[in-house]
Amino acid sequence: MTEAVTIAPETQAEIDRWLKKYPTDRKQSAVLQALMFVQRDNGGWLSEAHLNAIADYLELPRIAVYEVATFYDMYDLKPVGKNKIDVCTNISCKLCGCDKIVSHLEKRLGIKIGETTSDGRYTLKGVECLAACVGAPMMQINDLEYHEKLTPEKVDAILDRLEKEGDK
Ligand code: FES
Repeated sequence: MTEAVTIAPETQAEIDRWLKKYPTDRKQSAVLQALMFVQRDNGGWLSEAHLNAIADYLELPRIAVYEVATFYDMYDLKPVGKNKIDVCTNISCKLCGCDKIVSHLEKRLGIKIGETTSDGRYTLKGVECLAACVGAPMMQINDLEYHEKLTPEKVDAILDRLEKEGDK
């Protein structure tokens, strides 16, 4: 049995603001945003209980939330590290050398794609196209920063900065 969770009142208000953008019988349109808000509140990932809570809040069948959460790379269904590194491994990035970037990241972090470092600092993910093909190969950090035309040296500089920020 999955333990129930409650969506915080402030987060419910954020979801409600999105619901107002759509016809009242189209609550499914707010699923993407609701998942983002609840994931943010839960340290970057969503449990089954969170998916259920969103479905209940939006008065949708659970499958309507599960199918979105399991389709998009931006949702994590298990705990993630403090820094989430999404490396695009789709076609443009593949053709422009993302394999070299992935290998470099795996070596430097001591983990494979899909894993989190034992100190909880980094999660490394391989993701589908992030719509920055012109800057391939590229990666995204913490759903916020795009880094393009990557080289191993650029990756090292980015990780050095994250390390410094983590020490503060
Ligand atoms: S294929 Fe990598 S950003 Fe599009």
